[in-house]
Amino acid sequence: MAIQEHELIVLSKVKLRALRLSDSKDLVEIFSDAETMKHWSTSEHKSNKETFDMIANYLRHDGDSSKSMWALCSLEGSKKCIGWLSFYAFRPGICELGYILHRSFWGRGIMTEVLNWGVRDALDRWQIHRIEAQTSPENVSSMRLLEKVGFRREGYLRKNYLKDGVFEDTVLFGLLDEDLMS
Ligand SMILES: CC(C)(COP(=O)(O)OP(=O)(O)OC[C@H]1O[C@@H](n2cnc3c(N)ncnc32)[C@H](O)[C@@H]1OP(=O)(O)O)[C@@H](O)C(=O)NCCC(=O)NCCS
Repeated sequence: MAIQEHELIVLSKVKLRALRLSDSKDLVEIFSDAETMKHWSTSEHKSNKETFDMIANYLRHDGDSSKSMWALCSLEGSKKCIGWLSFYAFRPGICELGYILHRSFWGRGIMTEVLNWGVRDALDRWQIHRIEAQTSPENVSSMRLLEKVGFRREGYLRKNYLKDGVFEDTVLFGLLDEDLMS
């Protein structure tokens, strides 16, 4: 079942709701930060419009599974959008996972909590058995995060995507529903 407009998931460190176009104004801070974007598949955004267009494009193409992108919102006063958790590239039984968090919230266990909840919800919500994630081999925190929530390292893909004119390697991680039972 797609993420519904009225859904609100309250975890101990963060809240989740469906991503909206209006979140672009908060996400600009994240996507324009060079340090945050160091291991992302694209370089940092140079204008607010770039972030706005990206979100608009994702929401427009949020295909069959629509909606499958969560906004992560601070529990603190402002309720600002501080990141996202996205499920995409759906094919029978399988989808891919993406996540990003505002740098000022790193290292507090937020994404560990989000993924622990998010992968279980996704397996059930979309009736899938496998979730994949790819990360740069230099993205130590992301690889640690994936292993912590139960993903297994499955492969090393050489020169697998183009960033700033250079082909970069990725590490492929996979999680099966049965991995969470063992
Ligand atoms: C990757 C990211 C989502 C992690 O979020 P987070 O909320 O800071 O992660 P957590 O606090 O839950 O920490 C996860 C694990 O990574 C470890 N970690 C965090 N930063 C680390 C670092 N620089 N080096 C080594 N380990 C690190 C944490 O210690 C923790 O493991 P532990 O519990 O064994 O100590 C965040 O850094 C981010 O948004 N990065 C930019 C976007 C990105 O790279 N997304 C992934 C693309 S594949």
